[in-house]
Amino acid sequence: MIVVTGATGNVGRALVERLVAEDQPVRALTRNPGRAAFPSGAEVARLELDRPAHLLDGATKLFLHIQATGDRTGGLLDAARAAGVRHVVMLSSGIIDEGADDETHPIRIWHATAEQQVRDSGLEWTFLRPISFATNALQWAPQIRVGDTVHGPFAEACTAPIHEDDIAAVAARALIDRGHSGAVHRLTGPEPVTTTEQITTIGHTLGRDLRFIEVPPDQVGPDLFPHVPPSMLQGILKSFAATAGVHPEITTTVETITGTPARTMSSSGSSVTIRKTLPATL
Ligand SMILES: NC(=O)c1ccc[n+]([C@@H]2O[C@H](COP(=O)([O-])OP(=O)(O)OC[C@H]3O[C@@H](n4cnc5c(N)ncnc54)[C@H](OP(=O)(O)O)[C@@H]3O)[C@@H](O)[C@H]2O)c1
Repeated sequence: MIVVTGATGNVGRALVERLVAEDQPVRALTRNPGRAAFPSGAEVARLELDRPAHLLDGATKLFLHIQATGDRTGGLLDAARAAGVRHVVMLSSGIIDEGADDETHPIRIWHATAEQQVRDSGLEWTFLRPISFATNALQWAPQIRVGDTVHGPFAEACTAPIHEDDIAAVAARALIDRGHSGAVHRLTGPEPVTTTEQITTIGHTLGRDLRFIEVPPDQVGPDLFPHVPPSMLQGILKSFAATAGVHPEITTTVETITGTPARTMSSSGSSVTIRKTLPATL
C-alpha cells in the first residue's frame, strides 16, 4: 500500500492517477474526502494527523508532501516506521543545492528541516527536488481572467518550469521501482523561459494578446501572489531576483527516470496549468 499525502494537489492528484493506472494499491489522504473525486481504484482517507497510525495501516511506502503534513511531519514519520513503512519519497525543493544555496532562505530552511527529519527517521528515502513548477503560472490567473495585461516583478526572470505530471511520473517510478533509495532527483522542465515568454505562451494558448508589465519588486504585495503565504513572499521575491537574466539549471532527470522527455511550457498547453488559467466564461 502506498500512502499519498497532498493527494488532491497539483503533484499528488497526478501521482494517485498514475499509481491507480499501474494497479498499485494507493491510499490518498485529504482534509476533505467528500470533495476529493479520486479514481475509483484509490482508497481515500481523511488526513487526521493527530491520529496518524490508522492512516498508515498496511502501508509499505509513503509520498510525503510537507505542506500537507506541516508541523506533524515528525509524528507521521514515527507512525510510518511503526506501521512497517520502508520507503519515503519526499516532495522537497531544488532550493536545496548543497554548497551552492542560501542556508538562511526560509523556503530552503523549511525543506531542509523536513529532509533532515526524513533522514533521521531511519526509513529509506528519495528526495525529489523540483526547481520551479509550471503551476506557478496560476499566480497570474486572477489578472488574466479580467484583462490582457499582467503585472508582476522581474520580466526577465528565467526558469525551466516543470509540469506537475512530470514530477508525479518521477515520484511514481521512485515509489514503484527499485534503485531510488538514497537518491536525490533534481527536476526541471526542458527549456528556459522568461516571465515575459510565459505570459506570451499562455496568451497564444488562450488565443489572446497578453502583455507583461514589470512592477518594481519593492512595490509587489500579496495581491500579486495570491497562492503564496504572506510570510514566504519576501523569500519568493529573493528567489525570483536571483533568476533575472540568468540561464537556469536544466536537468534531464525526468527523461532518464521515466523514459519520456519533460514537457515544455508550450507543450503543456492542454495541461492543468493553462486550463486552470482560463477564464470560466471562455
Ligand atoms: N511551486 C514551486 O515552484 C515549488 C518548487 C519546489 C518545491 N515545491 C514544493 O511543492 C509543494 C507544492 O506542491 P503542490 O503544488 O502539488 O501542492 P498544492 O497543490 O498546493 O497542495 C497539495 C495539497 O496539500 C493540502 N494542503 C495544502 N495546504 C495545506 C495545509 N496548510 N494544511 C494541510 N493540508 C494542506 C491540500 O489538500 P487537501 O485540501 O485535500 O487536504 C492540497 O491540495 C510545496 O509544498 C513545496 O514543498 C514547490
